[in-house]
Amino acid sequence: MAKVVFLDQGLRAEVPEGTTVLDAARRMGVRISSICGGSGTCSTCRVSCVVNPENLSPVEPLEIAYDMGPGVRLGCQAHVRGDVGLRVVKIPKAVLE
Ligand code: FES
Repeated sequence: MAKVVFLDQGLRAEVPEGTTVLDAARRMGVRISSICGGSGTCSTCRVSCVVNPENLSPVEPLEIAYDMGPGVRLGCQAHVRGDVGLRVVKIPKAVLE
């Protein structure tokens, strides 16, 4: 099990290692966009891993394609491999339309 903390939401939980960040967020009741349902095609599930980013799975090629900036990951592509601290990255409304 790994501890997942959403620092900006004040929520924490333990999840099985291998769980995606998006699935962990959903279980915890964290509000996070996921327009494509987790298929990696919308980039709205962005999170910033600010504590122990090395405890997430390696960056996937499609994450690089989105050019999201340092430390930002797609919640549906990043798998939890150890304790992490995260923040939800707010997507501007104009991007979602
Ligand atoms: S939910 Fe769409 S890219 Fe992650």
